[in-house]
Amino acid sequence: MNETIRIAIDGPAAAGKSTVAKIVAKKLSYIYIDTGAMYRSLTLKALNKNIDLEDDEKLTDLLVHTDIELKQGERGQNVLVDGKDVSLEIRSNIVTNNVSHVAKHSSVRRDMVKRQQLLAEEKSVVMDGRDIGTHVLPDAEVKIFLIATVEERAKRRYEENLKKGFASNLEELKEEIKQRDQIDSKREAAPLMKADDAIEIDTTSLSIDDVANRILQEVNKLMD
Ligand code: CDP
Ligand code: CDP
Repeated sequence: MNETIRIAIDGPAAAGKSTVAKIVAKKLSYIYIDTGAMYRSLTLKALNKNIDLEDDEKLTDLLVHTDIELKQGERGQNVLVDGKDVSLEIRSNIVTNNVSHVAKHSSVRRDMVKRQQLLAEEKSVVMDGRDIGTHVLPDAEVKIFLIATVEERAKRRYEENLKKGFASNLEELKEEIKQRDQIDSKREAAPLMKADDAIEIDTTSLSIDDVANRILQEVNKLMD
């Protein structure tokens, strides 16, 4: 058996990737790596600097001069950009609605993938994103592809927002999710795609624990 185990979790927005990835990582004492947070971080910095999100040279140059740190805090993972905690800011609507435009550039992705591979080097990790099983960790020991209907995913985001204290428009959320999925799936560079050897789990009517346990079962199989 390998000394380190890498679990790759991919899928569209709000399929439940980060929620179950955190649970699985905690149960196994593995490191959780949220690659979406890295693309969100660059997007936030580019927006703050008024950089044209279609300009791949400027974005790539910005990334070269950007330090992104995923730091394990007491209450979950904190994201630091150039030393500043941006954990909340990177979840804002403006970042969410622009991040796919930043993530579609192949030069940006090349740099991000290198950083992500370094973070996972010689460590047991749970990494979630869109291209983990296909590009970042193509030899991952466990590959999972989570899906759910767009209605269910919009409902999940709606309820998440309610818990945070604000009501959102369900139809608008559905449209935003559809649009982001469309850009992520249709881009040329490492599009959102299930790896041939990934296990697909439809989470539409599954609980968070059901999904986490299903992934843990796959890890247990490696130990047998
Ligand atoms: O949590 P949510 O599904 O809303 O998104 P996320 O995982 O934070 O990712 C935000 C965006 O970053 C995605 O919609 C993709 O455009 C991009 N992304 C990517 O292209 N590749 C990854 N490995 C992770 C995220
Ligand atoms: O990371 P990703 O965008 O794929 O999704 P997430 O942020 O982990 O999950 C979106 C929301 O769906 C969260 O509020 C989860 O609690 C919820 N969820 C759920 O209700 N049932 C599941 N099986 C998975 C997630």
